[in-house]
Amino acid sequence: MGPAEDLFLAALKARDKAYAPHSRFAVGVAIRTGSGKIHTGANIENQSYPEGWCAETSAIAHMIMAAVTPADRLITEVAVVADHSPPITPCGGCRQRLAEFGAPETLIHACGLSGAEASWTLGELLPAAFSLSVRDPRAAMKGSA
Ligand code: THU
Repeated sequence: MGPAEDLFLAALKARDKAYAPHSRFAVGVAIRTGSGKIHTGANIENQSYPEGWCAETSAIAHMIMAAVTPADRLITEVAVVADHSPPITPCGGCRQRLAEFGAPETLIHACGLSGAEASWTLGELLPAAFSLSVRDPRAAMKGSA
C-alpha cells in the first residue's frame, strides 16, 4: 500500500455517494485528521446550480461534526478522487475551507480512479491564504470561537 492508499480508497468509496445529476462529474474526498481519523465526502448538486457544494465541503462537515478534541479538526492529508485527466485539485473556495482547518504543510493528493497521480501541499495550492488573524481554528471548539 502506498503512503496515502487508505485515504485514496476511502475517497474512492465516497465518490460512489456523489449526487451529481447536473454535471455528471462525481467527486470523492477523504480527509485525515491530526488524530488519525478519516472523514469522507462527495459532491452534492442542486438544480439551482450555485447551491450545490463540493466533496471537500461535505468531508469537512463530517469532520467537524465528529470532532471531540482539537486534533480531530486538524486536516493533515486530503485525497480527492475524480475520473479526469489531468487529476483535479480542490477549487479555490475549497482551498480556503481546507486552509481553515489545515496547515501550509497539509498534503493534497489528486487521484484518478487507480490512485494518487500528483501531490501538493496546501501552501503550494493556496499561497497567501486569506486570514483575519493568526489564531488557531483548532482551538475554537465548544462555543469558544
Ligand atoms: N467538485 C468537487 O466536488 N470538488 C472539486 O475539487 C472540484 C469540483 C464538484 C463540484 C460540481 O458538483 C462538480 O464537481 C463539477 O464541477
